[in-house]
Amino acid sequence: MQKRTRLSLLALSVAVVAGCATVAAVRDEPIQPIQPAKVNNPAMVELGKKLFFDPRLSRSGGISCNSCHNLSTGGADNLAASIGDRWQKGGINSPTVLNSSLNIAQFWDGRAKDLKEQAGGPIANPAEMASTHTVAVSTLQTIPGYVREFKSVYGTDQISIDQVTQALAVFEETLVTPNARFDQWLKGDNQALNMQELRGYELFKSSGCVACHNGAAVGGNSFQKMGLIQPYKTAHTAQGRVDVTKLDQDRFMFKVPTLRNVELTYPYFHDGAADTLTVAVDTMGKLQLGKSFTTQENADVVAFLKTLTGQQPSFALPHLPPSGDRTPRPDPFAKGG
Ligand code: HEC
Ligand code: HEC
Repeated sequence: MQKRTRLSLLALSVAVVAGCATVAAVRDEPIQPIQPAKVNNPAMVELGKKLFFDPRLSRSGGISCNSCHNLSTGGADNLAASIGDRWQKGGINSPTVLNSSLNIAQFWDGRAKDLKEQAGGPIANPAEMASTHTVAVSTLQTIPGYVREFKSVYGTDQISIDQVTQALAVFEETLVTPNARFDQWLKGDNQALNMQELRGYELFKSSGCVACHNGAAVGGNSFQKMGLIQPYKTAHTAQGRVDVTKLDQDRFMFKVPTLRNVELTYPYFHDGAADTLTVAVDTMGKLQLGKSFTTQENADVVAFLKTLTGQQPSFALPHLPPSGDRTPRPDPFAKGG
């Protein structure tokens, strides 16, 4: 008995030492490394991947999630406003889906609590994919390959919107971007950043950017006022979080965007008004912190931000099951709305 206790104590202390060793390797900073995705259900991830790329979830048969969250371009569309059904102008800049699982809530105003709840939105949004949940599900039900795949993942012949949004969410959870140069530096590689990038990071901390942009996603974890020190001038009508909470104090509060992969996800801000990081950093300094960066300081912060570009999701393009005889044919040029 005594011997057993001593043995397990020994095992415990070995585990603690090993644990400390890995913790100590990560620098104690307000930003933490992105963890690689853990895939528990690869079949559901594969199904969600197909749905993400499938334009048949839209009314027109022409728009997929990937149209506005292009995984070839940082999970966004690089447009100030997205192109929706019948070439409609989107209401707000499309945020990246990369690392979106780390967000406190989804959308600029946080109106969806998680990725599953979010995924139902665009399918039925008249300005985006412009379908309905009933139509989207009945369309999938006419595609034999999907019927088979849903059955093998969910064990039933009856596809539901709940299954669709769950599979999409589970796929999106895999869209994390670990191993950015900044993460390599966080984990102790002193060569990972050059002097300018390090200066930029020091400025990012000392100026106060890090008060709002922190954690593994360098943002995404709080709602903050756009225009804290000086008001933000825009013709855009979005009011932010107040639309959800109805509290006046939440007017112009937006979810702080992640700065992971920010080099790829221009243009910036909810109205997409800032075309470059140089402009976005200048605006943030003035409006959020009352600070005017010199040209050199701005360039240093921008250089740091570019070290946040991580390993992009990489996989073989999914092959979508072909339409069945009863599948509605694409109708992108229909009149009306
Ligand atoms: C027509 C363009 C368009 C399509 C198609 C589209 N989205 Fe979006 N997506 C947007 C825009 C714009 C927003 C921001 C809306 C807002 O905040 O009010 C957004 C927000 C999101 C967010 C929240 C990210 C964040 O940081 O808050 C996720 C996740 C997302 N979309 C996933 C999807 C999925 C999954 C699909 C397919 C079912 C999809 N989107 C289809 C344009 C699009
Ligand atoms: C008080 C909180 C706060 C502080 C401090 C802050 N930000 Fe922001 N940041 C935000 C919010 C909120 C947004 C989104 C604003 C919007 O689009 O209306 C944002 C957006 C951004 C964007 C654009 C991201 C995108 O995808 O559109 C960049 C880049 C950025 N911030 C960098 C910085 C830098 C650099 C600093 C320091 C100079 C800084 N921020 C300080 C809250 C803050």
